[in-house]
Amino acid sequence: MAKAKIAVLVSGGGTNLQALIDAEKSGALKSGSIRLVISNKKDAFALERAAKAGIEALAITRKSCGGQEGFEKRLTEEIENRGIDLIIMAGFLSILSEDFTSHFDHRIINIHPSLIPSFCGKGFYGLTVHEAALEKGVKVTGATVHYVNEIPDGGEIIMQKAVEVKDGDTPEILQRRVMEEAEWVILPAAAEKICAEMAGGGNAETERSK
Ligand code: GRF
Repeated sequence: MAKAKIAVLVSGGGTNLQALIDAEKSGALKSGSIRLVISNKKDAFALERAAKAGIEALAITRKSCGGQEGFEKRLTEEIENRGIDLIIMAGFLSILSEDFTSHFDHRIINIHPSLIPSFCGKGFYGLTVHEAALEKGVKVTGATVHYVNEIPDGGEIIMQKAVEVKDGDTPEILQRRVMEEAEWVILPAAAEKICAEMAGGGNAETERSK
C-alpha cells in the first residue's frame, strides 16, 4: 500500500480534523492521506475546513437516509467505494452500531477528551467530560485515542497524553487546554502510527507473496 486512505467523520467545529489536515501538510502524517470527510450535521464548520483544504466533503444525515440502518449503509458505501483504509472519528457525535464497528474492526479510531477509563462512556462527550473532571477535582486529565468497538469509548487504547488541571479552570478553559496540548497532538500521531502499520503491513504482505 503506498499510503493508507483516510476518511474523517465529524459533527462540529472540526479542530481535530484541522490538526490532521495540518499534520498531512507538514509531513508529520506521511503514511496516510485524508481522502474524505463525512459530517452527520449539514452545518458543521468542519465541512468548510475540508473544502478549504480541497478534501471531498459529504453531509450525510440520518434523516436523509431514513434512519440508522440506512445511514450506516450509506456511510459504508461511501467509505468502501473510495477504498478507505482508516476511519477517524474526530468530534463525531453519532452512535454507530455493533454491525458497523465490527464490519470495520480495528479500522476505526476515536479521540476522547479524557484519560480513559476516567470520564468516558455513555453521555460523556464534549464539555460534559471536563465538567465531570472538575467536579471530581482531578489534578491531571488529558486525551485518549482508542479503537472503536460496540462499547462507547470501550476499544483498545492506542495513545494518551496527560494535561494539568489548573486552579480556576472552567470547563471551557480546560477543554481548550486539553484540545491544544493533547488532542491535536496525539490524534495525528496515532493516525501516523496506524497508517504506517497498515502501509508497512501491506508492503510486508507483497514482500511475502513474491
Ligand atoms: C472535542 O472536545 C473533542 O475531544 C471531541 O469533540 C470535541 C470537538 O472536536 N471528540 P472538534 O473541534 O469538532 O474536532
